[in-house]
Amino acid sequence: MLDYKNPGLVIESAKVEPGSVTWRSPANLAILKYWGKHGEQLPRNPSLSLTLSSSFTDTVLEYKPKEGGDRDLSLEFTFHQEPNEAFRERVLKFLGSVTGIFPFLLQLDLTVRTGNSFPHSSGIASSASAMSALALCLCSLEEELFETLSDDAEFDKKASYIARLGSGSACRSIYPVASLWGQFGEVEGSSDEFAIPMAGQVHEVFKDFHDDILVVSSEAKRVSSRTGHGLMESHPFAEARFADAKRKLHFLLEAMKKGDLETFGKIAEAEALTLHGLMMSSNPSYILLKPNTLSMIEKVQAYRAETKHPVFFSLDAGPNLHLLYPEDVIHDVRLFIDEELLPLCEDEQWIQDWVGEGPVQG
Ligand code: PMV
Repeated sequence: MLDYKNPGLVIESAKVEPGSVTWRSPANLAILKYWGKHGEQLPRNPSLSLTLSSSFTDTVLEYKPKEGGDRDLSLEFTFHQEPNEAFRERVLKFLGSVTGIFPFLLQLDLTVRTGNSFPHSSGIASSASAMSALALCLCSLEEELFETLSDDAEFDKKASYIARLGSGSACRSIYPVASLWGQFGEVEGSSDEFAIPMAGQVHEVFKDFHDDILVVSSEAKRVSSRTGHGLMESHPFAEARFADAKRKLHFLLEAMKKGDLETFGKIAEAEALTLHGLMMSSNPSYILLKPNTLSMIEKVQAYRAETKHPVFFSLDAGPNLHLLYPEDVIHDVRLFIDEELLPLCEDEQWIQDWVGEGPVQG
């Protein structure tokens, strides 16, 4: 196990000038899903995601040495320029959990200013982009104060590890194009503790792949992912699921390497339905899909059968449909979205997204 605890990372307050670090970090969509965890945010099975572009979080972390000898965390927090006590509490709890790794946080007055590119309450999970942006800011702050993370690969690995502690799926947002999180014998360097970059191991067709998000409902979901992960502990199908995920990952990696869209799409759709199937078959069971989600799935399947275009759906832990397709069919697919899917969206809301280049430092 990696141990990033480092009591030596303390500042001499008089020598540190106030400053700030800024990161923009994207959301990601798991094609192979993480569902079930143990220990300190460790996954029960490996997962593989595409990194998105237009759904991102911007985070600025401002710091200045504390004047008094107070040893509690000091945090001001705004979301879209407004104070937000619920988010502040979550960030405070997260920062509290990493003070052994970044002890200097206790010596600073911190201000976090953050905001998302996608409309708040559009039903899009924001924890991956938010927690990865914050983790990147913390690593940049360490580098700025101590020059201990100048190696890019080490920086990314630590940022991914820290992001994981905030929200498991966030560890995959650190890399461009695609990431793998979770120890998997076939992939050297893979780990349960951080994600690794996969851009070099996927076919060109995925590098500008589309993932449009069709907003079926913007309501906050009834059951959190944390609860869903917890229910996997006593799930009757848990062991079969974890084994199935590993089996599928082998074929997914092969398909993504070759650019085999049919196999990729088959696995993406099977994983989306499996995730929701696990929710429906847990105890207590619950359903996050809406009638319009199912109508859209039928439309996507019928459209694919009719046109032979490689257009596939995926789902996150919510009712909104992710539409996956390569750049060369964009013209036709956009017409299909306009005519057949937008009428099923809440207020015709959708987000045009695509595979992206990963986080950017401001
Ligand atoms: O990162 P969490 O704890 O919010 O869990 C996310 C789980 C899914 O989004 C449903 C799947 C995944 O691998 O991202």
